[in-house]
Amino acid sequence: MKKILVTGSAGQIGSELTMALRERYGNDRVVAGGRKTKPSAKLRESGPFEIVDCTDIKAVEKVVKRYEIDTIYHLAALLSAVAEARPQLAWDVNINGLYNVLEVAREYKCAVFTPSSIGAFGLSTPQDNTPQDTIQRPNTMYGVTKVAGELLCDYYYKRFGVDTRGVRYPGIISNVTLPGGGTTDYAVEIFYEAIKHKKYTCFIKEGTKMDMMYMPDALKAAFDLMEADPGKLKHRNAFNVTAMSFAPEEIAAEVKKHIPEFTMDYKVDPVRQAIAESWPNYMDDSVARREWGWHPEYDLPAMSKDMIKVLSEKLQVSDAV
Ligand code: SER
Repeated sequence: MKKILVTGSAGQIGSELTMALRERYGNDRVVAGGRKTKPSAKLRESGPFEIVDCTDIKAVEKVVKRYEIDTIYHLAALLSAVAEARPQLAWDVNINGLYNVLEVAREYKCAVFTPSSIGAFGLSTPQDNTPQDTIQRPNTMYGVTKVAGELLCDYYYKRFGVDTRGVRYPGIISNVTLPGGGTTDYAVEIFYEAIKHKKYTCFIKEGTKMDMMYMPDALKAAFDLMEADPGKLKHRNAFNVTAMSFAPEEIAAEVKKHIPEFTMDYKVDPVRQAIAESWPNYMDDSVARREWGWHPEYDLPAMSKDMIKVLSEKLQVSDAV
């Protein structure tokens, strides 16, 4: 029976993944690790919570030893826009943090799930139908840490036999915890603003396509890959996975179907726009489909409908659906 540690458990993906793992494997078998002293009441009350700064290898080791952890979902990382603003910190958290987790995993024989990202690609990557194995020359600190992370995870598998697995997540859209400083955050903000104020000012330019995914599919990708038959995995880390691809005006049109008064204008942020333009328009995820049966459930209309329903209830705006 698994004993799991989730790093970054208070983050956008971590907060939902931790609860989903607790539901699946039992509350006491999933340790929520985070740097925040005040995790949400739900995380704190439903199972063990430990302060784990992944840049401190001793802190990671202490928790793994104490709870006899055999699987680590390593989600602690800085997103793209924050990493551009604080590149030294991004290196420390995204690279040294991962290195520490892999070292502890090597010693205590843990399996490790680590997300890579669409940010692992760059301007010289083919942008349409981006292949699984292709040119990766990102020009952001986030991208540099993601490519290095993919390679490091492959190395720990080949050299030390650590069971490392991972996906290249696209922008993740969710309704529980806000993302913290990514380039794809507009696709989450738009729903909050549409429900609260019926309008949104988008920081990404019209016509800029990026891959996206609804949280239930992001969780499914992590579960399905970690439970996949290792004999079928030719790749292990950094599988392209996507569920939809759209530009800002396309998601705005979808929102408008549910909230007819909704309007959107643009105030482009040059830093995040440049990052967005260096990322794929849409990835080819056929290798993940083939090797471990990846299959997303939500497309743009299904995701938008659910986001508006759930958020309207959460924000208590009843006339928005
Ligand atoms: N959502 C992430 C970001 O925008 C992409 O991996 O940084």
